[in-house]
Amino acid sequence: MQTLSSKQSTSTAIEREEKFSAHNYHPLPVVLKRGEGVYLWDVEGKKYFDFLSAYSAVNQGHCHPKIIGALTEQAETLTLVSRAFHSDVFGEYAEYVTEYFGFDKVLPMNSGAEAVETAIKICRKWAYNKKGIEEDKAKIVVCGNNFHGRTTTIISFSSDATARDDFGPYTGGFITVEYDNLDALKDALDQPDVAGFMVEPIQGEAGVHTPNEQYLAKAAEMCRARNILFIADEVQTGIGRTGSLLAVCGNCTCQGHCERQPATFVRPDILILGKALSGGVYPVSAALANDDVMEVIKPGQHGSTFGGNPLACRVAMAALEVIEDEKLTQNARRLGHIFRKEMQKLVDESDLIKLVRGKGLLNAVVINDSPESDTAWRLCLALRDNGLLAKPTHGNIIRFAPPLVMTEKQLMTCVEIIAKTVREFRK
Ligand SMILES: Cc1ncc(COP(=O)(O)O)c(C=O)c1O
Repeated sequence: MQTLSSKQSTSTAIEREEKFSAHNYHPLPVVLKRGEGVYLWDVEGKKYFDFLSAYSAVNQGHCHPKIIGALTEQAETLTLVSRAFHSDVFGEYAEYVTEYFGFDKVLPMNSGAEAVETAIKICRKWAYNKKGIEEDKAKIVVCGNNFHGRTTTIISFSSDATARDDFGPYTGGFITVEYDNLDALKDALDQPDVAGFMVEPIQGEAGVHTPNEQYLAKAAEMCRARNILFIADEVQTGIGRTGSLLAVCGNCTCQGHCERQPATFVRPDILILGKALSGGVYPVSAALANDDVMEVIKPGQHGSTFGGNPLACRVAMAALEVIEDEKLTQNARRLGHIFRKEMQKLVDESDLIKLVRGKGLLNAVVINDSPESDTAWRLCLALRDNGLLAKPTHGNIIRFAPPLVMTEKQLMTCVEIIAKTVREFRK
């Protein structure tokens, strides 16, 4: 038997995982050992550009020294007391993160799905305690092709059969409407007992679908006019990824320059964050809201042993500082334009790629083949062989989301790798 520290080859590491882990993922066959900035190294020492960033968690780049410094320093001092007691860090973090995003209060959790669950619970409780909806009748409007996580309640309103089938009985209380369709949204919001509308500002998992310019602002306005909570799930899109601090305010006239407290006209009533809130160093998530909403939650009604622990708080503060200090939001915006322009040249030149879309450094290319084909998968294998790691989503779409610390020079090297791989690829 191999010991934990023994050297592993790619094949032995994969065999072990296959044998001893549930088969709930289908990873690209590459075994990574080390990460720094935009780079990853596999167990054989081959170097890659990371073009996924752990689904947009590693916005600040792998093992950012400032975040790792905060982690290690706090790890030697105090890691967890639970919320049974106060810690000297949690209040500082709560003040920091609420000021950063412009809300009165934060409810700290760990994974993205937990923060989504938190938003759903807050919304329902607000419906009964504040809006006056009859007990158990509250409804939340969600979008088709959404991805909000993996809990039983969340998959209950998923339209993805793989995520949903055979996990019933399902949780009720959700109305699904077509994404980016304001007429459908209006009809749903006008139904009785609607308490909230939860939306991804850009649908990442579904293949980086960016809605029409006015969709989010209009949706927020429609919610406000009906006293319905507008809930933005920015677990994947938030914290600089799309070239603005939050994707929900991406069309604001500030063009991404309001680094903190984004525009009020699209500010959600509940903001859900995760992933890059820790720079991918540690699971940290949050639901943020103003007092009139958050005050419905009383002691004992919601929580998590690890939520808001000192380690998480220090890591999150450092991660948010890095976004600001290194102007990563602005970098994502600038490099995003360059990347899409370069990909458009490939679309024009090659039959293999149908289109490119996205915002900031959350982009996708659609492969010119059926969603059932393995073309996108094989193209990702070829990209891997050429030193760049990306993964298909929904069959024939490849998401491109590098860490936001990427330089223009590194980006152009990546563009060359992608172009070369596409040109050499045989379907
Ligand atoms: C928009 C969105 N919400 C929620 C989640 C769930 O986050 P987690 O995997 O941390 O539970 C994800 C994960 O990809 C996501 O993209």
